[in-house]
Amino acid sequence: MATTLGPGSRPGTAATPEAGAAADQAALLRVRGLSVTYPSARGPVPAVRDVAFDVRPGEILGLVGESGSGKSSVCTAVMGLLPDGTRLDADEIGFEGRDLARLRERDLRRIRGRRIALVPQQPMTSLAPTTPVGRQLRWYLGDRLDDPQLRGTLQAIGLGAVLDRPHDLPGAFSGGQLQRLVIAIAALAHEPALLLADEPTTTLDATVQAQVLKLLLTLREDLGLAVLYVSHDLAVVAQICDRVGVMYGGRLVETAPVAEIFTNPRHPYTRALVAAMPSTTPADQPLRPIPGTAEGANLLPGCPFAPRCPEVMDVCRTAMPAPVRRAAATVGCHRSGGEAGEAA
Ligand SMILES: Nc1ncnc2c1ncn2[C@@H]1O[C@H](COP(=O)(O)OP(=O)(O)OP(=O)(O)O)[C@@H](O)[C@H]1O
Ligand SMILES: [Mg+2]
Repeated sequence: MATTLGPGSRPGTAATPEAGAAADQAALLRVRGLSVTYPSARGPVPAVRDVAFDVRPGEILGLVGESGSGKSSVCTAVMGLLPDGTRLDADEIGFEGRDLARLRERDLRRIRGRRIALVPQQPMTSLAPTTPVGRQLRWYLGDRLDDPQLRGTLQAIGLGAVLDRPHDLPGAFSGGQLQRLVIAIAALAHEPALLLADEPTTTLDATVQAQVLKLLLTLREDLGLAVLYVSHDLAVVAQICDRVGVMYGGRLVETAPVAEIFTNPRHPYTRALVAAMPSTTPADQPLRPIPGTAEGANLLPGCPFAPRCPEVMDVCRTAMPAPVRRAAATVGCHRSGGEAGEAA
């Protein structure tokens, strides 16, 4: 089993967020105290800062936030694929009884792609452009590709065209078809328990996006897969996620069940994100974009949202709010009373 960190076990931080939730149901992925810092010519770039969350078995957890908030870095860290020279700090990246942050590369390789699979934003990054799709499917599925039942599954998830034209190169298929192909390979080649989907529908139009989301829901239903679904689009997250983590400036500022994110957003950034959604704006009203920019938020000593926050207090600019549990949500905001040790 994964090491259990008791509440408040880390000096200088709040009680472990999600500790209560984790007790309700064992986590499949249990991330605690995750920080990622990239080197750069202008000094270290803290991309992920002391992030903690759980993904439960069969759950779809959305990770949303503006560009640069650190979403992809979380995925890359969990996969153990950060570029050389990057600093990874983690109290725990617990997965199926192992701490991925402390595994040797050789052991990580047995998990990566097998028990945890990554679906990238651009399907072509995981396909060979000059190899026919049929051969690529066979690389991953082997003789199972001849199994009528598996072929039926592939047909059912919209890969009929790929099965009908196995000699065609990837370039002869649409972005949506290729994304479904990559997801099918990720989910069916081995028996992953967790898919990390990093903006898998961002480049697709709304109809094709809906097909891909439906495929992910089908895979969760049929295979019991858990998914960490990364997106900058709250509307997409609303369609498929059970819970949502909201990132800003490298911090996870709020985690809550998806309905709560929309009906009772607790962090001012979450409220601003929801208010900025076209679907929450009446047709005769202009959209309400969030004033200011997220540039440099990851370097601030206090709350990363403080410079843009309509409810900012003096303390927000100097002290990082500690995450606290509020019902089924975890929120890091001084307005929510983020005192260390308060979380249950
Ligand atoms: N290899 C790298 N070297 C230096 N800085 C990096 C590197 N990769 C990411 N960063 C920086 O880390 C921060 C977080 O980047 P990340 O790609 O994780 O954000 P993101 O939320 O996935 O953004 P997007 O929505 O644009 O994909 C950004 O400031 C980014 O510029
Ligand atoms: Mg990204």
